[in-house]
Amino acid sequence: MKAKTPEQSKTIMTDLVLPSETNPLNNLFGGELLARMDRAASISARRHSRRIVVTASVNHVAFNRAVPLGSVVTVEAKVSRAFKTSMEVYIDVWTEDRESGERTKANEAIYTFVAVDETGRPITVPEVIPESALEQDRYDAALRRKQLSLLLAGKIKPSDATELKALFY
Ligand SMILES: CC(C)(COP(=O)(O)OP(=O)(O)OC[C@H]1O[C@@H](n2cnc3c(N)ncnc32)[C@H](O)[C@@H]1OP(=O)(O)O)[C@@H](O)C(=O)NCCC(=O)NCCS
Repeated sequence: MKAKTPEQSKTIMTDLVLPSETNPLNNLFGGELLARMDRAASISARRHSRRIVVTASVNHVAFNRAVPLGSVVTVEAKVSRAFKTSMEVYIDVWTEDRESGERTKANEAIYTFVAVDETGRPITVPEVIPESALEQDRYDAALRRKQLSLLLAGKIKPSDATELKALFY
């Protein structure tokens, strides 16, 4: 199975914030952004694996900046690391100034997808070869995030979270 770069799974979705997608402060509703990120990340994982993919977990979401009604929002997703059957997808969310076109980072998130066969059974995926310094940083930290996610889900024991232990000892 041929390894792929994060660039090969890059998925960009740009859309407006409409009135029905906002909260009482006229900012984008968090659940709407989660859905947009899930869609972009799912396409990205599908491009990497060329398989059916399912969301296994949402590992991290930071709603750092409110996104006002009428904003142009761009969601950019790339597979940052692949393991045996799972893929970490890193999502960056940008807004765009109407006049200057300048982009501002609004939010980011990290999702885990699993490639499955037609019966829903996990199936192996290609490895990731990071290219840029940022892609390398995200790749290097992905195992730690995977262990944290599995630990929080009760799927591994604390003693098996080797990367987390290495942070503290
Ligand atoms: C995701 C799913 C396929 C995992 O199945 P499973 O029987 O737990 O399979 P495994 O234990 O072999 O795990 C498969 C991979 O997922 C990873 N994984 C499972 N749960 C995870 C979690 N909470 N966080 C991070 N990774 C996780 C495992 O580490 C493994 O990765 P690897 O093969 O790359 O090492 C299964 O739980 C599922 O189908 N869930 C429903 C998915 C869905 O419907 N999503 C949409 C939500 S509405």
